[in-house]
Amino acid sequence: MSSTVAKDHRADRSPCAHPTAEQVSPAPARRTAEGTDRGRGDHQRASPPDTRSAYGEDPRAVDADVTHAVRSVLGDLLDQRLAAAEAVDPLFGEELAARVAGFTRSGGGLGRSRLVWWALRACGGAEPWRTHAALRIGAALELIQTCALVHDDVMDGARLRRGRPSLHVDVAAQYAAACGARRGERLGEAAAILAGDLALAWADDVVADTEMPRPTARHVRDLWSALRMEMVAGQYLDVQGEATSARSPARAIRAARLKSARYSVERPLALGAALADAGPAATRALCSAGGCVGLAFQLRDDLLDAFGDPRDTGKPAGGDIRGGKPTYLAAVAQVRADTSGDRHAQDLLRDTLGRADASDAELAAVREVFVSTGARDTVEEKIHRLMVQGVRHLDTAALEPEPTRQLRMLLRSASGVAADAAPLSRSVPTTGEGAGR
Ligand code: IPE
Ligand code: MG
Ligand code: MG
Ligand code: MG
Repeated sequence: MSSTVAKDHRADRSPCAHPTAEQVSPAPARRTAEGTDRGRGDHQRASPPDTRSAYGEDPRAVDADVTHAVRSVLGDLLDQRLAAAEAVDPLFGEELAARVAGFTRSGGGLGRSRLVWWALRACGGAEPWRTHAALRIGAALELIQTCALVHDDVMDGARLRRGRPSLHVDVAAQYAAACGARRGERLGEAAAILAGDLALAWADDVVADTEMPRPTARHVRDLWSALRMEMVAGQYLDVQGEATSARSPARAIRAARLKSARYSVERPLALGAALADAGPAATRALCSAGGCVGLAFQLRDDLLDAFGDPRDTGKPAGGDIRGGKPTYLAAVAQVRADTSGDRHAQDLLRDTLGRADASDAELAAVREVFVSTGARDTVEEKIHRLMVQGVRHLDTAALEPEPTRQLRMLLRSASGVAADAAPLSRSVPTTGEGAGR
């Protein structure tokens, strides 16, 4: 990051002189996509600058350590955005933009970026511009994840994320002494709304400023636009279902697909395929695999919320029970209790789901109902089935073997049933595996 450049910029605030984020920070020498992909023609555009990283040219270097490559590209992009934010206003830069950057850097296993990468490679993508674009799109997914989680924690009233205070709680704590608890909390929530907006804006900028041939760019833009809207739609189904106690297995599956499966697994794989300009068979195989495993991923998250250990998940246990989340797990338990006429289970679910002040003993009783109704086993079996189906979809197209092996491992890990990987913890930054949160 260059404070000199930022200061120079601050001195000139005329409307015509505003640089883009990538112009504020000194960028490595830029090569246009034309230079790397002659003959494809019709490139999206030649400017603004599309920063190249050391990983921009050699796909095998990325293969050797995808996480490191994504972190490097993401780190450069965040440095650039932070410098631009600082230039706009130092307080905003320090208190809001820095939190967005810090949260994004603390992301878990970079699972979404790794899915993009290995999907690209499974479809044979290897040219430098594809390598570069895949890393940037991966970085953009990490930013959209920041937006999703920071907003989600406000909506869910969650105080802990990745083992630390969630962003709104952190800001509230900073200001509690100076402004009082209530004003501090209001400020914390407002800051989180703005932080999520900022992360989404940065993500959109990264996608828009990635140089690709026009047909690829159009395809990527359509997928990007779809995943953004799906995530918002799913989150709305989730909170609306919570408020109205609309709890059915079918609805829970729909919300899980939209709020999580698509942007976490299915769309990252589709983006990798799009960046490779893959044919329909490969694209279909990857999307089908992603659809199955994406759903398994969210069902695993629901199980972890009820039965996981906060030391592993980085978030409080039982938040979904106290919030009355319309999860598949809760919906199956409800259906089972109703159809078997299990009055004890029915009463417990009615009296405890959605009660923010439910005691630990009451949480334990609901967990027991999840077990006694067979809901927990049903969800576990469904996750397993989805994972197996998902991985099998990869066999339906002629994909590159080694990248496909990597994808299989990632998909198993995302569902938390991998034989050779610890169950996915979506919130702890150090797990390093899977499409975790
Ligand atoms: C959130 O689902 C999905 C998005 C962030 C879009 P959850 O509310 O279940 O996620 P966690 O459990 O807080 O991580
Ligand atoms: Mg949540
Ligand atoms: Mg939520
Ligand atoms: Mg959850």
